[in-house]
Amino acid sequence: MTALAGAVGAGSGAAQAAASSAGKGMQGAFDFDSTVDRVGSNCYKFCAQIAKFGGEYFDIGMGVADMDFHVAPAITKALKERASHENWGYLGNTDGLREAIVQWNKVRYDVDVDPDTVTMCSGVHNGLISTLNAVSRPGMKTIMNTPTYNGFYTDLRLSRTLVNDSEMYIDDDGKYQVDWDDFEARLTPDTGAFLLCNPQNPTGNVWTEDELLRFGELCLKNNVVVLADEIHCDFVMDGQKYTPFASLPDKDIVNNSLTYKSASKTFSIAGLKHAYFYSTNKTLLDRVRWMHRADLNTLGVFGTEAALRDGGDWFDALLPYIDANQQFVSDYVNERIPGVKVRKAEGTYLAWLDVSEPVKGLECAKHAEKEGLKTAEHYFEKWLVDNSGVQLNPGSNYGTGGAGHMRMNLGTSRANIERALGKIESAIKSA
Ligand SMILES: Cc1ncc(COP(=O)(O)O)c(C=O)c1O
Repeated sequence: MTALAGAVGAGSGAAQAAASSAGKGMQGAFDFDSTVDRVGSNCYKFCAQIAKFGGEYFDIGMGVADMDFHVAPAITKALKERASHENWGYLGNTDGLREAIVQWNKVRYDVDVDPDTVTMCSGVHNGLISTLNAVSRPGMKTIMNTPTYNGFYTDLRLSRTLVNDSEMYIDDDGKYQVDWDDFEARLTPDTGAFLLCNPQNPTGNVWTEDELLRFGELCLKNNVVVLADEIHCDFVMDGQKYTPFASLPDKDIVNNSLTYKSASKTFSIAGLKHAYFYSTNKTLLDRVRWMHRADLNTLGVFGTEAALRDGGDWFDALLPYIDANQQFVSDYVNERIPGVKVRKAEGTYLAWLDVSEPVKGLECAKHAEKEGLKTAEHYFEKWLVDNSGVQLNPGSNYGTGGAGHMRMNLGTSRANIERALGKIESAIKSA
């Protein structure tokens, strides 16, 4: 590995300049340089990792997709007010929240969502599972562009549908591209649904209108329903454009789809457990609703309504901060961490690191087998925690094509990111 370390110099100007200037001070009224100390709060990102890897090694959690910032003040205010009511019985209706959802989609993306079609769920997973159960019989297949969000595989299991991974390829620019021949060949009669992720977790791809139309046309032609998971859609980097599937200029394509969204990524309120889905196709929507239990969580309903109604300025201040985090990470990694590469994500607050060189150099596959770990990337995860204190998610969790990669969460302060990268850099350089 020392030879590997020699392949890259001590770092050129860009990353160092970014480190010294970016992320300092307030972003409007909000301070994203200050994060919540989450250790001891029973959170997955830090506490569950300490339990897994041991507190003596673990330092910074950069795995699970939630953020470390103080939430938008409007959310805390609304939840405090609701808590002071001191009663947590069943809720009556969701009219206020429904209106806030319609407004958010209209004002931000010019999408007209019919409030009667908005269907509440306790998470995007919960909506996807109901839908897969409604549109596919057990034993049918669900197609996905991989590498893809690992949680989808649980949704397939819970709907007893089978994996149909259409692996993407990486072009000369380091960008993931759809293998259209493979995708089309996989739209077999036993494939009931296409699970589209836009922006794509973990690669960060933001799909263009042309790509979405092509997915839509192929699925329509082959009787495959499109499930458009747009949970990350508010995180679209400068110069990119999010195209809601429901806004495509072809009514038949749109009618062959349902869209899944939540404020949970945008405002980091995943623990409040609220999401929603909708469709312009009433018949399809009714079929899904027949299979769906729209349980309401009072905190999720009040927190989401406050976020969407009054949290917009907080998010508008956050987005450029995340964009600068993405830029900082791609500069730093490519310039200073030997053997590791990354292409700046077009969307999401995630970075998808190509670590194939260190995984090979450290003989992770051999060690994984010896230690009974699932894959080489699981050994590399453990090696990184032991040697740098930083926890990243193993790419092999993300389906076909995920090997040789790790997913890193950038929903934290620039200082935390810089510290984590510094630790990874030292670990790899001294391996
Ligand atoms: C693409 C995608 N879909 C769904 C989820 C989970 O959503 P929820 O917590 O609302 O079930 C995540 C969480 O990381 C995700 O990245």
